[in-house]
Amino acid sequence: MPFVEVGITLLVLTGSCFFVLGAYYQHNDFLYKLHRLIQEDPYAFYIREKLYDTLQLFNPNCLDQSDVSNSRMSQIMKYGFPGLDDIRVYSDFILSYDRRNRVAHWVYEHLRAPCVKNTGNGVTSHKANYQPDMSVPSNFRSVLTDYKNSGFDRGHLAAAGNHKCHQTHCNETFYLTNIAPQVGRGFNQDAWNNLEIYVRELTENYGSVYVCTGPMYKPKRQLQDVTEVRNTRTKNDKWCVEYEVIGENTVAVPTHFFKVITVESKLSGGSPYMEAYIMPNEPISRNANIRNFLADIREIEHIAGLQFFNGLRRSFFFGTNYTTTPEIYKNFA
Ligand SMILES: *[C@@H]1O[C@H](CO)[C@@H](O)[C@H](O)[C@H]1NC(C)=O
Ligand SMILES: *[C@@H]1O[C@H](CO)[C@@H](O)[C@H](O)[C@H]1NC(C)=O
Repeated sequence: MPFVEVGITLLVLTGSCFFVLGAYYQHNDFLYKLHRLIQEDPYAFYIREKLYDTLQLFNPNCLDQSDVSNSRMSQIMKYGFPGLDDIRVYSDFILSYDRRNRVAHWVYEHLRAPCVKNTGNGVTSHKANYQPDMSVPSNFRSVLTDYKNSGFDRGHLAAAGNHKCHQTHCNETFYLTNIAPQVGRGFNQDAWNNLEIYVRELTENYGSVYVCTGPMYKPKRQLQDVTEVRNTRTKNDKWCVEYEVIGENTVAVPTHFFKVITVESKLSGGSPYMEAYIMPNEPISRNANIRNFLADIREIEHIAGLQFFNGLRRSFFFGTNYTTTPEIYKNFA
């Protein structure tokens, strides 16, 4: 058994900070990248205190509850950064912004049961307004008029309904950095919404839920002209990435959206469970089961250019027996 696996197994057995060892191997690489980011990116420099805060993640002394509240950032990013492009820190979610497409690369959230249901504290999305994020340089910023009359919904990546503990948290999900053009009927208002509800339901039956959401621009096979095929003597298909852009700022309309979900067990020492979904940004039948959209995390990594749980072995999330039906399926069959 390789050293890492032995180490992780031991840590799981002790039920303590089981992720620490894997994270340790990431540590140096991450520190180096973060250091470079802070030097090169004025915004990263500006928020460097918050970014350093995320490094508590790698503190080998386990975080106790009081530390967690002090360091919300490190809690949200517990399983590592999928990428380091233009990191933006909000009070209840972390985002990586894609300046070229004017849509985030990914948004990471940490969901807890008390903050995903109505608690009578008056927090509501009706009190929030969509607004451009003025901290993004204007030439890379998306604005309200980009979406106006585009035919697309302003779809949340971090869902407003996941952040009901404070009005500020809810408000921040309405920044356009957290918004992407989504097909309204059949997608944003239906299948995608069902997936968001499913994620919230997980918090009731399990422990903490970590969810990373983002857009995908998936290559599609293009049919070739028969004569062209004959001339080039090849039967290989052409694959192209094609997507619409909207508004003066040419905001990209993703072809698909993904969610990578990590669910922690309520039992101490239970290993976390991970699953992923990819949904096409198009009307999806009302009766479609979200299970139809279960996806391989490696496909998301390949197409979105991201890496999940860098430093942790995948078997860690599933145990070593991939064929066993995870407990989680039994409740959401
Ligand atoms: C939330 O946004 C609304 C509308 O922009 C604003 O009036 C309100 O003060 C904000 N609340 C908080 C707590 O930031
Ligand atoms: C793996 O799962 C299969 C199917 O449930 C079961 O028969 C087998 O005993 C399991 N193996 C281990 C090592 O747990």
